[in-house]
Amino acid sequence: MAANAGADGGGRVLVTGAAGMLGSQLVLDAPAGVTAVGTDLAEGVDAPGVDLAEPEAVRELFREHGPFDGVIHAAAYTAVDKAEEEEELALRVNARATEVLATACAEAGIPLVVVSTDFVFDGTKREPYREDDPVAPLGAYGRTKLAGEEAARAAWADGLRIVRTQWLYGPRGRHFPGTMVKLARERDRLRVVDDQIGSPTSTLELAPALWDVLARGEPGVYHAACEGSASWYDLAVKSIEIAGLAERVTVEPCTTDEFPRPAPRPAYSVLDCRRLTALRGRALRHWSDALVTFFEVADPVGSD
Ligand SMILES: NC(=O)c1ccc[n+]([C@@H]2O[C@H](COP(=O)([O-])OP(=O)(O)OC[C@H]3O[C@@H](n4cnc5c(N)ncnc54)[C@H](OP(=O)(O)O)[C@@H]3O)[C@@H](O)[C@H]2O)c1
Repeated sequence: MAANAGADGGGRVLVTGAAGMLGSQLVLDAPAGVTAVGTDLAEGVDAPGVDLAEPEAVRELFREHGPFDGVIHAAAYTAVDKAEEEEELALRVNARATEVLATACAEAGIPLVVVSTDFVFDGTKREPYREDDPVAPLGAYGRTKLAGEEAARAAWADGLRIVRTQWLYGPRGRHFPGTMVKLARERDRLRVVDDQIGSPTSTLELAPALWDVLARGEPGVYHAACEGSASWYDLAVKSIEIAGLAERVTVEPCTTDEFPRPAPRPAYSVLDCRRLTALRGRALRHWSDALVTFFEVADPVGSD
């Protein structure tokens, strides 16, 4: 395999899902000398509207916009609750498209980073999940993302880096901190789930880490999340405090049982990120510091 993309400060890298919350940040954070070619970009379109589950469409994408030195696959079906009733569609996007891309990368002999999720775990552990802990997704979204991991491994194990992350928010798209700020402006009382624990992770922290994994990471699985852990309640309180709305609204903790959703969620899904930390020589910042920075540089209510 060729040297990893970006390792020598150059290259042409395909970023899928480039209009999404993470993909848009990946394009913005492309290292110097790397040209990020985005699929599905609303503006500055490079390779729009490609159905990644169609092998011929992906071959055409590689022919027309390649050759690529690497791929970061951030496109996904991400509607966790809706996936319960649309599992077949979610499987097509999260597994089939991932398999098709991995096959194309294998044919081209280029490294592939697949972004995956903490939802591959069932959340029964009470200490951070390691990369090789047993997987046991609770719902359709997690099952389809896991199927994507497995399909990519079957197609291109030698070139594959799977990066599992969690609880994302960023300058573009809809996310939990933005929703909490919006609600805090509209209501005087909020109830937020306090019995699911994870690590809120800013795309501003994650995107550069994914570029590093593409450039320097050995094939395999990595966990990537901000340091520390929190409940959704903790994240709501902190977001509202940073937004200067703490005096305006009362935030009360509640249980998952009091706030039922169609898809089950892991009760605990903090990720052990030591492998990524070793690669980069530093951890992603603590979630609360990263949240402060996010509020400084972006409108927390965000844009689509
Ligand atoms: N958000 C989180 O908290 C979180 C947590 C853990 C892991 N992840 C993973 O992180 C990655 C990025 O997530 P995100 O939050 O940035 O998601 P997002 O904002 O929903 O972006 C996903 C992008 O994928 C595109 N897409 C969907 N189906 C496609 C298809 N068939 N062909 C081409 N593009 C397609 C979407 O385009 P349309 O909008 O036009 O459909 C969208 O631009 C995903 O792999 C996700 O599973 C996210």
